[in-house]
Amino acid sequence: MPSLAANAATRVAPALALIAQERRRILEELGQLVAIPSISTRPESAGDVRACAEWLAAHLAAMGMTHTQVIATGGHPIVISEWRDSEPKPALLIYGHYDVQPPEPLEPWLSPPFVATVRENRVYGRGTTDDKGQLFIHLKAMEACLRASASLPVHVRLVLEGEEEIGSPSLAAFLQGKKEWLRSDLAVISDTPFFAAGIPSICYGLRGTVYMEVEVTGPATDLHSGSHGGAVHNPIQALAEMIAQLHDARGRVAIPGFYDGVRPLSQKERNGFRALPWSDRKYAQELGVPRLHGEAGFTTLERLWARPTLECHGIGGGYTEAGSKTIIPARAAAKISMRIVPGQRPERIAQLFAKHVRRIAPSAVRVSVQCLHASAAALTPLESPGMEAAVAAMSAGFGRRPVMQREGGSIPVATHLKSLLGMDTVLLGFGLPDENAHAPNEFLDLGNFFGGMATAIHFYHELANTLHAKGD
Ligand code: BES
Ligand code: ZN
Repeated sequence: MPSLAANAATRVAPALALIAQERRRILEELGQLVAIPSISTRPESAGDVRACAEWLAAHLAAMGMTHTQVIATGGHPIVISEWRDSEPKPALLIYGHYDVQPPEPLEPWLSPPFVATVRENRVYGRGTTDDKGQLFIHLKAMEACLRASASLPVHVRLVLEGEEEIGSPSLAAFLQGKKEWLRSDLAVISDTPFFAAGIPSICYGLRGTVYMEVEVTGPATDLHSGSHGGAVHNPIQALAEMIAQLHDARGRVAIPGFYDGVRPLSQKERNGFRALPWSDRKYAQELGVPRLHGEAGFTTLERLWARPTLECHGIGGGYTEAGSKTIIPARAAAKISMRIVPGQRPERIAQLFAKHVRRIAPSAVRVSVQCLHASAAALTPLESPGMEAAVAAMSAGFGRRPVMQREGGSIPVATHLKSLLGMDTVLLGFGLPDENAHAPNEFLDLGNFFGGMATAIHFYHELANTLHAKGD
């Protein structure tokens, strides 16, 4: 009698063969998707974001998906689509995001950000790893199954968001309104990296994000610094003084109450992190920093994945053009976000930040604080049928059992799916840690791109085995 593994291999083989034959076409299509500059944070790009949603909807319809719609929200649209037949099968929700970060700074790019360019077995371009390339892995995996056998082993609902990179402001309302349609046995997201090149991983935890903006205003207009310097507080200096007080000397966030409720890492988890092949020295070298820096008392992986942090992303104000100008600026502003972990509530953290900043504000300036977006951390239980399927699929797709890891980034939908729908999310990511996500020269490794498709095909089949069909 043929083994279970051999049976599984026979079932996926035709779809895998189709992918192997169609690599060139698949890359050309990815190029079309990358060419649409769907930059969600930039108001003037709204038309491009919509065009990208329309492109995806047309592509899904052509693949044989049904119920495809571009759904308007208060912000950028959400694309939904589904595939199902009349057989009882488990239901899988696949989420991806088609919006991208701005490409700037442009100068360091070796090829234009919106022209997908293949070099050294990598495809370069904004969104190639985050997340157009990774969502496309699922589209092409499903397409191959549908072409090979006119069917999928699971019922699929697909949600493609256009606002993930700006904190998913329209997502909760959309999920609320579509609860019944969305309800599935499991969700899968491919928007995270491997632990390292050649070391596939399943990610079971993400940090949340609380994003704040602080504005400091001083005099009603810019002032001559010779005439007025010495008489008024400079908003840039006031802001710098405040930012400098947000951490203490041990690298901890100095906001009172910030760490309240933070769930400590279990010894088992700490051991799990320690077992991963990691070198601080190598990491510092790769990043180009003289040494690492952070909260005392924790290893680097603990600080990255399971400890809350605070970062300043940008400070604006005053004169920064060529040459010199002598002013006391009328205003200065900073963008600051906090990564939060299980046990911290985003709304509470935003309140604590605002209260603290107002308290430490020098009295000779005015300070206003605003929260731009906030989402909680997400954890997926390690022992579940979805995780088992993910491990088996990664092992089949890449010939190596994946390691278990957490990540420091955020994907707001994962938290919402748990809190609104009670659904767990498997983070089945195919990126690499050095793929320059959000930075110049973003790329996706082509081995991971096509290996990802094989893994996704295995994953759908594994799920059909491990999850009990609910007659959906
Ligand atoms: N792909 C990332 C999430 C990610 C980053 C996962 C690094 C694992 C490691 C995602 O597109 C992203 O950048 N999300 C934003 C969300 C934020 C705006 C709420 C992030 O993490 O900054
Ligand atoms: Zn992403």
